Amino acid sequence: MKREIIITSDGSTTIHIPEWNEQYHSKHGAIQEAYHVFIKHGLQLFSNENVAILEIGFGTGLNAFITFLEYQKQQLTINYTGVEAYPIAAEEIEQLNYVKELNAEKNQTVFDTMHGCNWEEKQAINNQFSLTKQQLFFDKITAKNEYNLIYFDAFGARVQPELWTEDIFKIMFDSLQENGVLVTYSAKGSVRRAMQAVGFEVERLPGPPGKREMLRAIKKNS
Ligand SMILES: C[S@@+](CC[C@H](N)C(=O)[O-])C[C@H]1O[C@@H](n2cnc3c(N)ncnc32)[C@H](O)[C@@H]1O
Repeated sequence: MKREIIITSDGSTTIHIPEWNEQYHSKHGAIQEAYHVFIKHGLQLFSNENVAILEIGFGTGLNAFITFLEYQKQQLTINYTGVEAYPIAAEEIEQLNYVKELNAEKNQTVFDTMHGCNWEEKQAINNQFSLTKQQLFFDKITAKNEYNLIYFDAFGARVQPELWTEDIFKIMFDSLQENGVLVTYSAKGSVRRAMQAVGFEVERLPGPPGKREMLRAIKKNS
C-alpha cells in the first residue's frame, strides 16, 4: 500500500496510508500521543527494575526511541522487542523528524542504530538497553510469560478489526508475566470486552490530545 509522510499537529511526522485514510499515529500529535499512552500510562509504572517490553507494530521506531530517552529517569534496564511485519524503507526513515522534534540530536546514532540493526538479532544499544526487532505477523507471536509491558500500537479496528480480537489479546495475555501491563490508544467498548474475555483487568484512562479515553489492561494473579 502507498505510504506518505505527513506532519501532525505537534510538528512531528507520521506516515499516512491514503487507501485506508489511516495514520501510524494520531494526527493531533505523534510525539504527544506516544508520550501520553506508552510512557505516562505504561513505562512510568515501573522503577528500579528490568522491564521486558513488547511493541505491537515497531513501524517508525518512535516508541522505541522515546522509551530510550525516558528509561534512565526511572532507573530501568530495558529489553525491548519490536514486532513488525512490514518494515518501513530507508527513504521513509530519513524523512522522520523525531530526533529533531525531541531535541535529541545527541542520540541521533541511537535512532539510526534502532533502524539499521539486523532483524531477529538482539542489539545492545548500551549496557541497560537492548532492542530485538522481529519481522513477524502478530498472530505468530509465541512468547509465554515473558514481557512486563506491551505497547499495543496496531492500526485501528476500523481498518484492521482482526487485530483487536480475543484471539490476538489471548496471545498478548499469554506473552505477559503476572502483573504485566498492556497499554493502547484505543478506548472502544468491543476492544475492552475482548481484553476482559481473555482475563485482563481493564481500566479506562484519559486519552491523548484529540481522544477522550484510552485503555490499560493488567494481567492480575490468577
Ligand atoms: C499504527 S502503526 C504503529 C507503528 C509504530 N508503533 C510507530 O510508532 O510507528 C501499526 C504497525 O503495525 C504493522 N502491522 C500491521 N499489521 C500487522 C500484522 N498483522 N503483523 C505485524 N505487523 C503489522 C504496520 O506495518 C505498522 O507499522
